[in-house]
Amino acid sequence: MKTPFLLLAAAVAVAGEGFYSSNKNIYELNPASFKDVVYNSNYTSVVEFYAPWCGYCKQIKPVFSKLGKFLHGESKYAVNVAAVNCDEEINKLLCARHKVQGFPTIMVFRPPKHSPGKKRAAKHVPEVFNGVRELAPMAEYVSSRIKNYVKKIFSVHSELFASWLDSSEGPHKVVILTKSSMVSPLLRTLAIDFLDSVSFAAVNTDDLTGPTTITYNNEQVEIPIKENEKYPVVLVYDSEENKFHRYDGSVTKLPKVEKFIMAKTGAKPTEGRLSARGKKLAVYRGAAKVHDEL
Ligand SMILES: *[C@@H]1O[C@H](CO)[C@@H](O)[C@H](O)[C@H]1NC(C)=O
Repeated sequence: MKTPFLLLAAAVAVAGEGFYSSNKNIYELNPASFKDVVYNSNYTSVVEFYAPWCGYCKQIKPVFSKLGKFLHGESKYAVNVAAVNCDEEINKLLCARHKVQGFPTIMVFRPPKHSPGKKRAAKHVPEVFNGVRELAPMAEYVSSRIKNYVKKIFSVHSELFASWLDSSEGPHKVVILTKSSMVSPLLRTLAIDFLDSVSFAAVNTDDLTGPTTITYNNEQVEIPIKENEKYPVVLVYDSEENKFHRYDGSVTKLPKVEKFIMAKTGAKPTEGRLSARGKKLAVYRGAAKVHDEL
């Protein structure tokens, strides 16, 4: 029994004394993990550069913890919530590079748009968050910075819809029937997690009153919705059978929707908690790992 205790002690020591090193929703980063978490990701990152002695940082700590809980723990948006302790010797250059002059400095890093097949050339765009440092305005600002890869289509009866089903972008197709003209952060997160393997379209439901069919590949294909439907509805298109599979749960639990998509398509997410990358990155949220293993 000696070894596990030693390992545990070592893990705690490595996690260090950062503000958030025991927070399972927030990454405590150093230069190497910063690169991995922030720059090697299609997720938007919000990073607090802080110093443990600074009074205002101590004040912000509970707010930033709430932000981590909301964006990562509850809503599970395509956002990395992270912090860098600028007092640590190893982080000084990293903080200087980001022109951190006062503490805390909160920055948002927007990933470049990914186009399949293209080599990544563009860089992340850093922005300083100068808004009100409270949960709602921060969450709203960061959520608005999540990239959108969901194609908007105005009707299932449109030619655009048929040509999107035909197109080769993303071997699998997921349709989100929605009343809203905005693509919610949750839907944008879905599309990012399955980037390159599943293509997503948000299709407006204004012309739908109940079950309907479209003509596609010379067949009548049912759009499986009810009368007085509650939107959004998620449908996975099955090209072999030329039919739509409907997800019956509510579209609020991201991992459940992702598991349904995985089961129906065989596609695996490349980011997010169900991906190999997501599991690998969890170690940078130090305490999460220690607790999980106990
Ligand atoms: C975005 O996702 C694609 C597909 O998984 C990947 O090839 C690309 O490297 C990612 N971009 C970044 C900035 O990590």
